[in-house]
Amino acid sequence: MAKKILVTGGTGYIGSHTVVELQQAGYDVVIVDNLSNSNADVLEGITRITGKRPVFDKLDCTDFAAMKALFKKYSFDGIIHFAASKAVGESVEKPLMYYRNNLVSLINLLELMPQYGVKGIVFSSSCTVYGEPDQNPINEDAPVKPATSPYGNTKQVNEEIIRDFIHSGAPIKSIILRYFNPIGAHPSAEIGELPLGVPQNLVPYITQTGIGIRQQLSVFGDDYNTPDGSCIRDFINVVDLAKAHVIAVERMLENKSDDKVEIFNLGTGTGLSVLELIKVFEKVSGKPLNYKIVGRRKGDIEQIWAQPDKANNVLGWKAIETIEDTMASAWKWQQHLCEKVVK
Ligand code: UD1
Repeated sequence: MAKKILVTGGTGYIGSHTVVELQQAGYDVVIVDNLSNSNADVLEGITRITGKRPVFDKLDCTDFAAMKALFKKYSFDGIIHFAASKAVGESVEKPLMYYRNNLVSLINLLELMPQYGVKGIVFSSSCTVYGEPDQNPINEDAPVKPATSPYGNTKQVNEEIIRDFIHSGAPIKSIILRYFNPIGAHPSAEIGELPLGVPQNLVPYITQTGIGIRQQLSVFGDDYNTPDGSCIRDFINVVDLAKAHVIAVERMLENKSDDKVEIFNLGTGTGLSVLELIKVFEKVSGKPLNYKIVGRRKGDIEQIWAQPDKANNVLGWKAIETIEDTMASAWKWQQHLCEKVVK
């Protein structure tokens, strides 16, 4: 019988791509999402790709009673926990909202797992836990640095909560995935990133500028200590990233490791600057991008890219998409979105 996976935040950007890969790998998926930063239309896109509509419950993971009823209704084998607030700037303005959403959601899931015999949880973490790295590429043994925002702190504390709970003897396993910078969209352009309002992240801002929704991209700083002066990131294709979750779920539920908690960096292993990424966009879209250099954005890290050897060798996962194909997928998705609005 197919294993049943609860995907919290499954209508979101990374969540929706992961649901597609899970379904294509034969898992049954139940999505919960409060739709605070996503849209139920995503379910149509998923269904068009996979031919199967995932079960969806509009629920907030901070609502313990509702989550308990959900666990009772379905017998989950495992959980992938994406649901979280993720805007760095907003977290500085509304710290309690971030702590409530991001911590209470995880605590509720962990509390319910042993009660209902759910064996494992894959947790969405971020390279933000490394802060400004002492050296690049960065591996999983690098120190976790003091967080520079409440958002970053919630990722660190959530990792600690998982470790503490498992070390207390809880009968569950966990795989913590530290994402670098996920970008791009499903090659079908049926699903992709859907930022509400003005995008905070680089790629949706680039594609919205390319199509004319935004007038000009501001590049935050060209005076960093990097070859071209702009920040460097490890941009990872969202479908590649989604596939890592399927491998992680299988590893966890089939007890392929004796370790009860494992951590993996998910990145390509290559750093690319903001200005280099703009050039890739110009190449694949065939049009120049209107951008200007402005001052640095507060709290930005100068340069960070992953050493993904552990994910490559232990998890057996590797990022395979080229940056050109990835940016082309983001551009195709942006064009598809605009066609939908015009129709
Ligand atoms: C940020 C968070 C990360 C979080 C992720 C998802 C930090 C240090 N990191 O990643 O923890 O998981 O968002 O929300 O806060 N840029 C521009 N112009 C723009 C937008 C971005 O030049 O309009 C530059 C930024 O200065 C940065 C790079 O593009 O150098 C990437 O920015 P962004 O996409 O926001 O991701 P991070 O800041 O790396």
